Amino acid sequence: MIRKILVPTDGSDHAAKALDLAADLAGKYGAGIVILHVLLRDASPAEMKALAGRKLPKATADELDRLTELPLESEALTGAYAPIHAFVPEEVQEEVGRVIAENARAAAAAKGVSDVSVRMTAGDAAKQIVAAAEKEGADMIVMGSRGFGDLKGLLLGSVSHKVSNHALCTCVTVK
Ligand SMILES: Nc1ncnc2c1ncn2[C@@H]1O[C@H](COP(=O)(O)OP(=O)(O)O)[C@@H](O)[C@H]1O
Ligand SMILES: [Mg+2]
Repeated sequence: MIRKILVPTDGSDHAAKALDLAADLAGKYGAGIVILHVLLRDASPAEMKALAGRKLPKATADELDRLTELPLESEALTGAYAPIHAFVPEEVQEEVGRVIAENARAAAAAKGVSDVSVRMTAGDAAKQIVAAAEKEGADMIVMGSRGFGDLKGLLLGSVSHKVSNHALCTCVTVK
Protein backbone atom coordinates (compact mmCIF):
# COMPACT_ATOMS: atom_id res chain seq x y z
CA MET A 1 0.00 0.00 0.00
CA ILE A 2 1.44 3.36 -1.01
CA ARG A 3 0.03 6.22 1.05
CA LYS A 4 2.82 8.78 1.08
CA ILE A 5 5.43 9.50 -1.58
CA LEU A 6 8.45 11.68 -0.84
CA VAL A 7 9.72 13.61 -3.85
CA PRO A 8 13.01 15.40 -3.23
CA THR A 9 13.67 18.21 -5.68
CA ASP A 10 16.69 20.36 -6.46
CA GLY A 11 14.71 22.20 -9.14
CA SER A 12 16.33 20.22 -12.00
CA ASP A 13 14.50 18.77 -15.02
CA HIS A 14 15.38 15.31 -13.69
CA ALA A 15 13.54 16.04 -10.45
CA ALA A 16 10.58 17.43 -12.45
CA LYS A 17 10.43 14.14 -14.36
CA ALA A 18 10.45 12.25 -11.05
CA LEU A 19 7.60 14.42 -9.79
CA ASP A 20 5.60 13.58 -12.92
CA LEU A 21 5.88 9.87 -12.22
CA ALA A 22 5.16 10.43 -8.51
CA ALA A 23 1.99 12.35 -9.42
CA ASP A 24 0.84 9.46 -11.64
CA LEU A 25 1.51 6.98 -8.84
CA ALA A 26 -0.23 9.21 -6.30
CA GLY A 27 -3.31 9.26 -8.55
CA LYS A 28 -3.25 5.49 -8.95
CA TYR A 29 -2.82 4.72 -5.24
CA GLY A 30 -4.71 7.70 -3.80
CA ALA A 31 -1.48 8.71 -2.08
CA GLY A 32 -0.23 12.08 -0.89
CA ILE A 33 3.00 13.72 -2.02
CA VAL A 34 5.55 15.37 0.25
CA ILE A 35 7.95 17.59 -1.68
CA LEU A 36 11.32 18.13 -0.02
CA HIS A 37 13.90 20.71 -0.98
CA VAL A 38 17.29 20.78 0.73
CA LEU A 39 18.96 24.18 0.38
CA LEU A 40 21.44 24.27 -2.50
CA ARG A 41 24.49 25.27 -0.48
CA ASP A 42 26.95 24.04 -3.15
CA ALA A 43 25.27 25.48 -6.25
CA SER A 44 26.68 28.55 -7.97
CA PRO A 45 24.59 31.74 -8.07
CA ALA A 46 24.05 31.23 -11.83
CA GLU A 47 22.84 27.65 -11.27
CA MET A 48 20.47 28.80 -8.52
CA LYS A 49 18.99 31.44 -10.80
CA ALA A 50 18.43 28.90 -13.58
CA LEU A 51 16.94 26.29 -11.23
CA ALA A 52 14.42 28.70 -9.70
CA GLY A 53 13.34 30.02 -13.10
CA ARG A 54 10.95 32.84 -13.89
CA LYS A 55 9.11 32.92 -10.55
CA LEU A 56 12.16 34.20 -8.68
CA PRO A 57 11.55 37.70 -7.23
CA LYS A 58 13.48 40.32 -9.21
CA ALA A 59 15.55 41.45 -6.21
CA THR A 60 16.79 37.86 -5.65
CA ALA A 61 17.54 37.36 -9.35
CA ASP A 62 19.49 40.64 -9.38
CA GLU A 63 21.43 39.60 -6.27
CA LEU A 64 22.34 36.27 -7.91
CA ASP A 65 23.50 38.16 -11.03
CA ARG A 66 25.62 40.41 -8.85
CA LEU A 67 27.20 37.39 -7.12
CA THR A 68 27.84 35.76 -10.49
CA GLU A 69 29.72 38.84 -11.70
CA LEU A 70 31.72 39.23 -8.49
CA PRO A 71 35.47 38.95 -9.17
CA LEU A 72 36.93 35.98 -7.33
CA GLU A 73 40.09 37.31 -5.80
CA SER A 74 41.14 34.07 -4.11
CA GLU A 75 41.65 32.47 -7.52
CA ALA A 76 43.92 35.34 -8.57
CA LEU A 77 45.81 35.08 -5.28
CA THR A 78 46.56 31.36 -5.34
CA GLY A 79 46.86 31.07 -9.12
CA ALA A 80 45.30 27.63 -8.72
CA TYR A 81 42.45 26.53 -10.92
CA ALA A 82 39.36 25.71 -8.95
CA PRO A 83 35.73 25.73 -10.09
CA ILE A 84 34.86 28.22 -7.40
CA HIS A 85 32.08 30.75 -7.21
CA ALA A 86 30.85 33.31 -4.74
CA PHE A 87 29.07 32.02 -1.65
CA VAL A 88 25.31 32.57 -1.79
CA PRO A 89 24.02 33.78 1.61
CA GLU A 90 21.60 31.40 3.31
CA GLU A 91 18.64 33.81 3.08
CA VAL A 92 19.12 33.90 -0.71
CA GLN A 93 19.37 30.09 -0.79
CA GLU A 94 16.07 30.05 1.13
CA GLU A 95 14.38 32.40 -1.33
CA VAL A 96 15.55 30.17 -4.20
CA GLY A 97 14.37 27.09 -2.28
CA ARG A 98 10.91 28.53 -1.68
CA VAL A 99 10.49 29.11 -5.44
CA ILE A 100 11.79 25.64 -6.35
CA ALA A 101 9.47 24.00 -3.81
CA GLU A 102 6.50 26.12 -4.90
CA ASN A 103 7.13 25.29 -8.60
CA ALA A 104 7.05 21.59 -7.67
CA ARG A 105 3.91 22.00 -5.53
CA ALA A 106 2.14 23.78 -8.39
CA ALA A 107 3.23 21.08 -10.89
CA ALA A 108 1.85 18.30 -8.65
CA ALA A 109 -1.40 20.20 -8.11
CA ALA A 110 -1.71 20.79 -11.89
CA LYS A 111 -1.45 17.01 -12.35
CA GLY A 112 -4.46 16.59 -10.06
CA VAL A 113 -2.77 15.57 -6.80
CA SER A 114 -4.86 17.08 -4.01
CA ASP A 115 -2.73 16.09 -1.00
CA VAL A 116 0.59 17.90 -1.55
CA SER A 117 2.78 19.34 1.17
CA VAL A 118 6.17 21.00 1.06
CA ARG A 119 9.22 20.78 3.37
CA MET A 120 12.47 22.69 3.23
CA THR A 121 15.61 21.83 5.20
CA ALA A 122 19.33 22.53 5.14
CA GLY A 123 22.33 20.20 5.42
CA ASP A 124 23.62 17.17 3.52
CA ALA A 125 20.97 16.50 0.85
CA ALA A 126 21.12 12.68 0.96
CA LYS A 127 21.00 12.55 4.77
CA GLN A 128 18.14 15.04 4.88
CA ILE A 129 16.14 13.05 2.32
CA VAL A 130 16.63 9.74 4.16
CA ALA A 131 15.75 11.38 7.51
CA ALA A 132 12.65 13.06 6.04
CA ALA A 133 11.42 9.76 4.58
CA GLU A 134 11.59 8.19 8.05
CA LYS A 135 10.11 11.18 9.86
CA GLU A 136 7.22 11.49 7.40
CA GLY A 137 6.63 7.75 7.29
CA ALA A 138 6.98 7.79 3.49
CA ASP A 139 6.28 4.49 1.73
CA MET A 140 8.33 5.44 -1.30
CA ILE A 141 10.92 7.97 -2.47
CA VAL A 142 10.73 9.02 -6.12
CA MET A 143 13.74 11.08 -7.21
CA GLY A 144 15.74 11.95 -10.30
CA SER A 145 18.70 9.71 -11.21
CA ARG A 146 20.70 12.92 -11.76
CA GLY A 147 20.25 16.48 -10.64
CA PHE A 148 21.40 19.94 -11.62
CA GLY A 149 25.06 18.92 -11.60
CA ASP A 150 24.47 16.55 -14.49
CA LEU A 151 27.86 16.98 -16.24
CA LYS A 152 30.11 14.04 -15.58
CA GLY A 153 28.48 11.39 -17.75
CA LEU A 154 27.42 9.32 -14.75
CA LEU A 155 24.11 7.51 -14.74
CA LEU A 156 23.52 8.22 -11.07
CA GLY A 157 24.32 11.30 -9.02
CA SER A 158 25.78 11.06 -5.54
CA VAL A 159 22.55 12.06 -3.82
CA SER A 160 20.35 9.50 -5.61
CA HIS A 161 23.04 6.85 -5.08
CA LYS A 162 23.32 7.51 -1.33
CA VAL A 163 19.58 7.75 -0.83
CA SER A 164 18.86 4.44 -2.53
CA ASN A 165 21.61 2.81 -0.45
CA HIS A 166 20.49 4.19 2.89
CA ALA A 167 16.73 4.65 2.75
CA LEU A 168 14.60 1.94 4.35
CA CYS A 169 11.62 2.43 2.03
CA THR A 170 11.29 1.68 -1.69
CA CYS A 171 13.29 4.07 -3.86
CA VAL A 172 12.67 4.88 -7.49
CA THR A 173 15.32 6.76 -9.46
CA VAL A 174 13.77 8.14 -12.61
CA LYS A 175 15.87 8.19 -15.81
N1 LIG B 1 19.32 19.66 -2.63
C1 LIG B 1 18.41 18.73 -2.97
N2 LIG B 1 17.17 18.77 -2.42
C2 LIG B 1 16.24 17.84 -2.74
N3 LIG B 1 16.47 16.85 -3.61
C3 LIG B 1 17.68 16.75 -4.18
C4 LIG B 1 18.72 17.68 -3.88
N4 LIG B 1 19.82 17.32 -4.61
C5 LIG B 1 19.47 16.22 -5.32
N5 LIG B 1 18.19 15.87 -5.07
C6 LIG B 1 17.43 14.73 -5.64
O1 LIG B 1 18.36 13.75 -6.07
C7 LIG B 1 18.24 13.56 -7.49
C8 LIG B 1 19.63 13.23 -8.04
O2 LIG B 1 20.51 14.35 -7.86
P1 LIG B 1 22.08 14.18 -7.64
O3 LIG B 1 22.35 12.82 -7.09
O4 LIG B 1 22.53 15.37 -6.85
O5 LIG B 1 22.66 14.21 -9.13
P2 LIG B 1 23.75 15.21 -9.76
O6 LIG B 1 25.09 14.75 -9.29
O7 LIG B 1 23.56 15.07 -11.22
O8 LIG B 1 23.41 16.60 -9.24
C9 LIG B 1 17.60 14.86 -8.01
O9 LIG B 1 16.93 14.67 -9.26
C10 LIG B 1 16.62 15.15 -6.88
O10 LIG B 1 15.48 14.31 -6.98
MG1 LIG C 1 23.30 17.23 -7.24
